[in-house]
Amino acid sequence: MFEQLTMAPPDPILGLTEAFKKDPNPHKINLGVGVYKDEKGDTPILKSVAQARQRILAGETTKNYLAIDGSPEYSRAVQELLFGPGHPLQSSGRAVAVQAPGGTGALRVAADFLHQHFPGARVWISEPTWANHAQIFRLAGIQVQTYPYFDTHTNGLGLEAMCQALDSAPAGDVVLLHGCCHNPTGVDPEPEQWRRLAELVAARRLLPLVDFAYQGLGRGLREDAEGLLSLCATAPELLVASSFSKNFGLYNERAGALTLVAPAAEAALQALSHLKICIRANYSNPPAHGAAIITAVLQDTQLRREWEGEVQAMRQRIAQMRSLFVETLRQKGVKRDFSFIERQRGMFSFSGLNKEQVEALRQRHAIYIVGGGRINVAGMTRQNMEALCSAIAQVL
Ligand code: LMR
Repeated sequence: MFEQLTMAPPDPILGLTEAFKKDPNPHKINLGVGVYKDEKGDTPILKSVAQARQRILAGETTKNYLAIDGSPEYSRAVQELLFGPGHPLQSSGRAVAVQAPGGTGALRVAADFLHQHFPGARVWISEPTWANHAQIFRLAGIQVQTYPYFDTHTNGLGLEAMCQALDSAPAGDVVLLHGCCHNPTGVDPEPEQWRRLAELVAARRLLPLVDFAYQGLGRGLREDAEGLLSLCATAPELLVASSFSKNFGLYNERAGALTLVAPAAEAALQALSHLKICIRANYSNPPAHGAAIITAVLQDTQLRREWEGEVQAMRQRIAQMRSLFVETLRQKGVKRDFSFIERQRGMFSFSGLNKEQVEALRQRHAIYIVGGGRINVAGMTRQNMEALCSAIAQVL
């Protein structure tokens, strides 16, 4: 049977890391995968995370299974981070959250749940979007539609075209929205644009599914949740896939969550019982360690303060790199206006570099960026900036 199979294409993001690792060039630069690097080019364990880990390891007495939906303390901590302290969605029981192996695991649980219980529902994803989105839903058996998102003329949000497309979606379809730091464009709706989208989604009776993988890396932990809260104010039901890979630096611990909001507490519990079946049939129950660290950090006043400072430092360093990148390109004599990169938020910039230029950067300069021209700004440092901008100036 297996001899009939041909080679599958490499993953557009993680496949790039594999190619990068094999590249013998000592000056190679990886701006592909969305991983934060500090000024030295390292991806360190956050100090708050290291302290929480120490406490957990000192107090750990068992490696027994977690519940199918994970730890209840984690579920509470996740909801508080999403909605803010004392939010009625949490106190009323209208929201439930299950622990999941990363944001991808949460999306897959959502996809299985939707496919099983709402088989006619299609998922609308932005054009462009994270390279894995379409694959996750298609392999779960869901039909995928796209809505326009990025306006190449303004390098900003094409809100009118987006709203027009979503206006044609039938009730019961699912709209995947990026909570903040849109991947790959770095372009987010402004607060009043979020309100307009929230009204449209509610009026068309669409189900929002918010992919929330960069909370804190855009404008701030609470500010980045404003779009989600606008949706919560209008939509009676929604789903949120959270990832803590980036804002806790817990990439390989696979810490994420799927939060479901229902019109009433009873409906939320009924939906939860079905989510648990999807989980049990998929990976049985979640990995414990990353989520235990997140719970410990969020529940402890001192660790939480330290973590919030670390998230702020990551956010500020990325913003500095955006400015330095634009300035260094200017110094290298690049005529094209790249100032829009300073307005984009989060780890990524949609550079406007085309396929040939991306390929030339890789072949001639050992600089790895994702095919569509997405650059991981969080991988830029003062050390690699000169070489990066000289190479871009050359391929332009
Ligand atoms: C990315 O977009 O680079 C990250 O979300 C990592 C991944 O899994 O693709």
